[in-house]
Amino acid sequence: MTDKTAEIRKLNLEYSRLPRGRNWTLSDRFVPGEGPVDAKVMIIGQAPGRNEDVQKRPFIGASGKFLDRLILLAGLDRKQIYVCSVVQFFPPKNRVPTKDEVSLCRRFLFRQIEIINPRLVILLGAVACKTVLDMEEVSKIRGSMVRKDGRAYFLSMHPAAAVRIRSKMPLMEDDFRKLRLIIKSADRKP
Ligand code: URA
Repeated sequence: MTDKTAEIRKLNLEYSRLPRGRNWTLSDRFVPGEGPVDAKVMIIGQAPGRNEDVQKRPFIGASGKFLDRLILLAGLDRKQIYVCSVVQFFPPKNRVPTKDEVSLCRRFLFRQIEIINPRLVILLGAVACKTVLDMEEVSKIRGSMVRKDGRAYFLSMHPAAAVRIRSKMPLMEDDFRKLRLIIKSADRKP
């Protein structure tokens, strides 16, 4: 077992056993991040949905299917990407995780980023952009690349929003086509 595999296992064990306080209303089931521990690209969503909660796998429901399409548009391969969410327990009725829930989970997210150490992090939606980069108003900054502490971050909307409001799908598709071009031009640089 590699060091990274052991570290991620340890983190998942700790995260899944996060003490549930009296006010805990998230699902009891933990949805671990998925993908190779040496992935160069990491995708971070908001929180698992009902299907993810049942199967304990991230992005396997309707928004996951759309995400698969976006990944292809970017010229990437999901099998080589580490996929997770800011909060890795299903919030009932698919509600947005509360500030308290995010602050309970963020340290685990930051450890995951540190362990995986990807070159590129794709942030999907307001919760991910706010938690990781403290950036708001995703609609204004979507489709852009931000560099911080030697890492590249690509910002887009959350696929669940596009699945709910279909007119947003082409916007996300444009973001990921743009990402393809950014990746291509970065690969061409000596
Ligand atoms: N949305 C997320 O943010 N994460 C999932 O795993 C599924 C949907």
